Amino acid sequence: MENANRDSQIGMQLPNPHLANMTKDNLYHLGMSRTSHDLPALFGDVKFVCLGGSARRMENFAYFIGQELGVLSTNERPPNLASNSERFVLYKAGPVLSANHGIGVPSMLVVLHEILKMLHYAGSSEVTFIRIGTCGGIGVPPGSVIVSNAAVNGKLEHTYETVVLGKGIQRPINVDQELASEIHSCSRTEDPFSVILGKTYCTDDFFEGQARTGGAVCDINDGDEHRFLKQLDSEGVKNIEMESAGFFALCHKAGVKCGVVCVTFIDRLSTEDVPTDTDILSEWTQRPQILVARFIKKQLTNGV
Ligand code: URA
Repeated sequence: MENANRDSQIGMQLPNPHLANMTKDNLYHLGMSRTSHDLPALFGDVKFVCLGGSARRMENFAYFIGQELGVLSTNERPPNLASNSERFVLYKAGPVLSANHGIGVPSMLVVLHEILKMLHYAGSSEVTFIRIGTCGGIGVPPGSVIVSNAAVNGKLEHTYETVVLGKGIQRPINVDQELASEIHSCSRTEDPFSVILGKTYCTDDFFEGQARTGGAVCDINDGDEHRFLKQLDSEGVKNIEMESAGFFALCHKAGVKCGVVCVTFIDRLSTEDVPTDTDILSEWTQRPQILVARFIKKQLTNGV
C-alpha cells in the first residue's frame, strides 16, 4: 500500500496491512491497548488531534478548548487518558484530543504512530492533526505566530529521511496549503500579535543544529552563526523548530490532514537566548492555542 487514501466515512485507513491482524495491539507509550480499552467508544468521535511538546501545556490546552467548545463544565479538568504511561499525556475535550510529543522528531513520531493507530482502531474519520508549538523566529518580532506553509529539514531539503532496514528512505514534506490558509485566516486585526504564513526550518538539535554557539560543544563562530541565519532569512524561513519535517511527512504518508502553528520566543537575527520571563513566555504560548481554538470552532460550526 502506498499513501493511505484520505479517510472517508468508513474510518481512518492506514497504509500498514499488518494492522488487520494485530487484534491485541499494545499502544505501549499511551498505556492502552485494543483489548484493555474500548477504543471506538472512547475515541470514535475525534475530529482534531492537537500535539505540542510539553505535557503541562497540552493539559492546559485541553482545558482551554473544552471551555471554548462548552464541552467541559466550568473549572472541569479532563483526566489524563494515558495515565498508565509515563511517557506521554492524552486528554479529550469533546471531539478534540490534546497530547504532548516531547522534544524532537523521534519522540514525536512514537506518539504520532500510536495515536494514528488508536484512531484507526476507533473508527474515527476525517481527523485533522495540528502541532501547536514554540520556536525561534527569523526576522519577526518575538511573540509572533507562524503558520507553516512549507517546511525543510536540517539540510534545507523538502524531504524527511527516516532509516528503515538500515537504509535511508526519503519522504516528502507536503504541506496542506488550504489548511494552512484556513488557520491563518483565523487571525483578527485586534490580536496583539502577528500571524504569519511562512517556511519552517526543522532541525534535530536545539544547539548546534540551530546554529547556536552556546551548546556544550561548538565548532562554529559567531560569524558562521550570523551568516547561516541570514541565509535562512533570504530563503524565506520564518521559524526554526524540531518536529515539523517528521510531522508533515508521517501525516502525509498516513493520509491525514495536518498543520503546524508555532509561536516565536526570540528573533534569531538578534539573539540566541530564549527570554527568562516566564509570565511573558506563558502568555505567548497561549497565542497558537487561541488561533487553533478559533479554527476548530469554525470547522465544527461549519459541520466538519
Ligand atoms: N524551540 C526551538 O526549537 N528553538 C528555539 O529557538 C525556541 C524554541
